[in-house]
Amino acid sequence: MSLLAQINLPARKSGIHGRNELTAPLFDQYRRFIYEQTGIYFQDNKKYLLESRISRRLLATSKGDFQSYLQFLKNGGMRTELPELVNAVTINETFFFRTPAQFDIIEQHIIPELVSRREKTSRRIKIWSAACSTGDEPYTLALITKDRLQPRFPHISFEIVGTDINTDVLENARKGSYGPRSVRNVPPRMLSRYFSVEQDRYIVKPEIRQMVKFMHGNLADRSSMLKMRNFDLIICANVLIYFDNKSKQQVVSSLYNSLNQGGYLLVGFSETLYGVTQAFKPVRFEKTIAYKKG
Ligand SMILES: C[S@@+](CC[C@H](N)C(=O)[O-])C[C@H]1O[C@@H](n2cnc3c(N)ncnc32)[C@H](O)[C@@H]1O
Repeated sequence: MSLLAQINLPARKSGIHGRNELTAPLFDQYRRFIYEQTGIYFQDNKKYLLESRISRRLLATSKGDFQSYLQFLKNGGMRTELPELVNAVTINETFFFRTPAQFDIIEQHIIPELVSRREKTSRRIKIWSAACSTGDEPYTLALITKDRLQPRFPHISFEIVGTDINTDVLENARKGSYGPRSVRNVPPRMLSRYFSVEQDRYIVKPEIRQMVKFMHGNLADRSSMLKMRNFDLIICANVLIYFDNKSKQQVVSSLYNSLNQGGYLLVGFSETLYGVTQAFKPVRFEKTIAYKKG
């Protein structure tokens, strides 16, 4: 028997290349299912990524093969298993001060403008990091607020909310513990002032942690989006890239409704609302664009 046959035979028997393959029709059923639940659309070239991510859930649930696992999801496994599948298939890359140019315009232009328009009765500014992953983005906003905005605008109360569809990343966000890679862009003075170090972990101090409220939220779920109201600034970065144009339009329209008049939406540095909506007024800054409502 050739070496190749010797290697392939056990693999077929154990189902890696045989019955338990994510075939093209099954891939299509999965991506439709995930799309309907989350708005995330897996392009054809992401088949192997999806296959390896779902495989983790096959192992964890002992469902055996892709067909049975999908049936399980559709026939009642939705409530408990769907969140686990979502946790397995979402991409959660993030880090503190990911896009310095955007955080600069928030500090130097957007918040000062929002404050100057504040009526005497309303002294609250509400900020939402939509799809916040492990919390690096809303904590970056909290650091800037604590260190630079609050001293400048002591009469304003800032509320920061972080939401994500992935329950695992939200759990990590609440713990506020990060590796060196995540905090590589944090200015050294802020790092020593607002983090404690335990072994090789950087722990966000309670004074910053308590500034952010984390909540589970699916951007593609219209009814839960209706509860998100009266925000002055929304950052929805590096998530629209995973949606197709239809779900992008739906999500952006919900975000529009979540903003106060004159509020701002920021998307990822390499993302654009061109071709998605004309409802916002694009406001150009030196290195980035913000989208203004009204
Ligand atoms: C690449 S991370 C971006 C994190 C952060 N905004 C940033 O720019 O660094 C994308 C996040 O979007 C979340 N996500 C994907 N689909 C979502 C949905 N339908 N609703 C809410 N969050 C979603 C993922 O769980 C993931 O944490």
